[in-house]
Amino acid sequence: MKYNFDEVIDRRNSDALKLEALKPRWGREDLIPMWVADMDFRTPPYIIDTIRKRCDNGILGYTSVPENWSGSIINWLNMRYGWCVSTEMLTFSPGIVQGLAYALQALTKEGDKVMVLPPVYHPFFLITQKNNRNVVFSPLELKDGKIEIDFDKFRNDIKGCKVFILCNPHNPGGRVWSKEELEMIAEICHENGTMVFSDEIHADMTFPGRRHIPFATVSEKAKMNSVTFMSPSKAFNMPGLTSSYVVIENEKIREQFKRYMEASELDLGHVFAFIGTIAAYSNGTEWLEQMLEYVTGNIDYLIEYCSERMPKIKPIRPDASYLVFLDCRELELDQPSLVDFFVDGAHLALNDGSIFGKEGRGFMRMNVACPRSVLVKALSQLEEAYVRVNG
Ligand SMILES: Cc1ncc(COP(=O)(O)O)c(C=O)c1O
Repeated sequence: MKYNFDEVIDRRNSDALKLEALKPRWGREDLIPMWVADMDFRTPPYIIDTIRKRCDNGILGYTSVPENWSGSIINWLNMRYGWCVSTEMLTFSPGIVQGLAYALQALTKEGDKVMVLPPVYHPFFLITQKNNRNVVFSPLELKDGKIEIDFDKFRNDIKGCKVFILCNPHNPGGRVWSKEELEMIAEICHENGTMVFSDEIHADMTFPGRRHIPFATVSEKAKMNSVTFMSPSKAFNMPGLTSSYVVIENEKIREQFKRYMEASELDLGHVFAFIGTIAAYSNGTEWLEQMLEYVTGNIDYLIEYCSERMPKIKPIRPDASYLVFLDCRELELDQPSLVDFFVDGAHLALNDGSIFGKEGRGFMRMNVACPRSVLVKALSQLEEAYVRVNG
């Protein structure tokens, strides 16, 4: 491999949230951090070089939007997904969660119903609640180790909802939705006058053999009835740059959203935001492919390790991204005891599955975007705790 993903980088003294939050959240610092979704790999060198070069100019003044910002996005979406978008369809948003919150504020009103499919990335329902909209939870199902939508339930629960927030691919669980599933969602949402917000932040990390399909591309109904949130931040390990974008093909929805963003200048990026995205999207896919190959190796290692030595912990193999949902229900621990087992027993900091909704009880989410040596150490610590509890 051209890039060294085995390198262990000391993230101390860099204000890394992954480390700084250990003590406040779990009360101890001696934990291997495998929670928040960033990678312990170096950000691609061409992104770092771009930022360094900009600093060399010596003045961090106001920035304009570089001409090729939208061009780099248009090319990327076309090349990867065959999705043809134009400059006017794009709006800058600092973060994806911020973008979702702005869209809720711009396109819905207080008291409106918003549906999510738990277990799901928790800010979807937290920002909805904090913005005084009502959340409708329509739980997913886990069948033979695979996450599925129960469309009878979906059809029933969506009634009266103004918005459905889709996680495409899904987090946690890493499910890449099929064309048929997305078409069905588009059809049902259209019938019910429900707009779809599609969060596609994990899309670029879809593993070979699976195919990410942008929701807006599955049908005319999907295209005219959706708002898509994307960013190079996850796939290129630059979430600290807060640089995302929103794609809206429907002119009416777009104007309403843009008006809202412009009113408070929420669509103004900082000096590194635009050049970071251009750098990520304009330097080929070699880094991304090698990173995914390395992460696949980590996922294989984790799955094999669990099946051979800790069979009561069952990882769900993700179709995309480096977040692995661990089904720990056979350990027969209540949720606080399960968290203690990982934290005080194994000295690991993972996401407690129940934060993603009550359907996540009995699960933990593990971030495996780390050097193999770190994963090996983490799993041996987990095994020690496992043996203590299970003999
Ligand atoms: C599905 C999903 N959306 C959004 C985010 C966060 O995006 P941002 O940091 O741009 O708000 C994450 C981070 O884990 C995520 O998994």
